[in-house]
Amino acid sequence: MDLHGRNLLKDTDLRADEFLTLLDTADGLRAEKRAGGERQRLCGRNIALIFEKASTRTRSAFEVAAHDQGAHVTYLGPEESQLGHKESMKDTARVLGRMFDGIEYRGFSQAAVETLGLHAGVPVWNGLTDEWHPTQALADMLTMRDHASKPLSAVSYCYLGDTRNNTANSLLVTGARLGLDVRMAGPEALWPSPVVRNLAHELAVASGAELTVTDDVFEAVRGADYLYTDVWVSMGEPAESWDERIDLLLPFQVNAAVMHAAGNPEVKFMHCLPALHNEETEVGRRLHERRGLRALEVTDDVFESHASLVFDQAENRLHTIKALMVETAGD
Ligand code: CP
Ligand code: NVA
Repeated sequence: MDLHGRNLLKDTDLRADEFLTLLDTADGLRAEKRAGGERQRLCGRNIALIFEKASTRTRSAFEVAAHDQGAHVTYLGPEESQLGHKESMKDTARVLGRMFDGIEYRGFSQAAVETLGLHAGVPVWNGLTDEWHPTQALADMLTMRDHASKPLSAVSYCYLGDTRNNTANSLLVTGARLGLDVRMAGPEALWPSPVVRNLAHELAVASGAELTVTDDVFEAVRGADYLYTDVWVSMGEPAESWDERIDLLLPFQVNAAVMHAAGNPEVKFMHCLPALHNEETEVGRRLHERRGLRALEVTDDVFESHASLVFDQAENRLHTIKALMVETAGD
C-alpha cells in the first residue's frame, strides 16, 4: 500500500485498510526500536512542527520519531512565526512546502490545516484542531488492539463526557470506519454535531459498526471493553465554561462505580491526556478550591489503577506518528 505524499488532515482521509496498515507499520517500528536496531527511513528529511496550542505528547512524539528516523525538525510555536500575524496560511504553506518534506500543524481552525494541506505540496499532518485529533485516534486504536484478546473489529468502547470535542469526533468516526461497537455517553447539549453523526452513520453502514449516542451512562458502558474520557473544557474554550461543564458532565465522570457498571472484569480505562484526576495541577487545585472536587473527568483511583492504559496510549503516540511520517514522507 502506497501512502506516499498523503495528508492526514482528518480521520476520514484514511480508508480502513490504510489505517490498519499504519497500525501494522507502527507495530513493526515499535518492535525495531525496542530491539535497538531501528532502520532510518527519514534520513535527510526536514519536518516543520507548527504549534498554535500547547502540547506535551504530540510535539514530543513528532520530535522523537523524527530523530529516531534520521530527520531534522523545526519547531514553530505561536510566537515564533509570522503565521496569522503578518502572513496568511496559504502563503505560509507555499513557503514551508519549498523547504520542508512534511508539516505538522496543531491549532484552532480545521480550515487552516485544510488550507495548509491544499497548498504545501508536501504531506501535512493534523496534530489537533478544534474539530479533529486524528493522530490520537491512531495511537488509541493501536492501544486497543494491543490489549484486546479479540480482533479489533470486535472491540467495543464507550467515550464519556464532552462527546463533541476533537478527540471524541475522531474516536467516533474512526470506530465507525473500522467496524467497532462505539458508544458516546454525554449530555444532549454536548452530543456530536449532526454533520459528524451523519458521517459516522454512513461509515457504520459500510463497515457494520454499531453506534450509540446517549445520555444514559449505565446503558452506554454495559459490556464495553474500554471506557475513554477527555478533559471537559478543551484548549481554546473559555475558562468561564468550567462551572457549566462541571454541572453538565459530573454524571459522566469515570469513577469506580462506572467502571464496575461495565460488568466486564477486564474493562480498561483510556484517556488521551492531559487528565484532571487530582489536585496536582493548577487547574485541578483551582477547581477543588471553588467546587470542592478532588477530580474532574476521571477519579484518581481509576486513573492509577491496573485497568488504566493511559501511559501505553501516550507511548503509542510516538510509534503511530512515526509510522505516519515514514509511510507518507519516508523512503
Ligand atoms: N494527547 C495529546 O494530544 O497530548 P498533548 O496535548 O500533550 O500533545
Ligand atoms: N480535547 C482536548 C484534547 C487534548 C489533547 C483539547 O483539545 O484540549
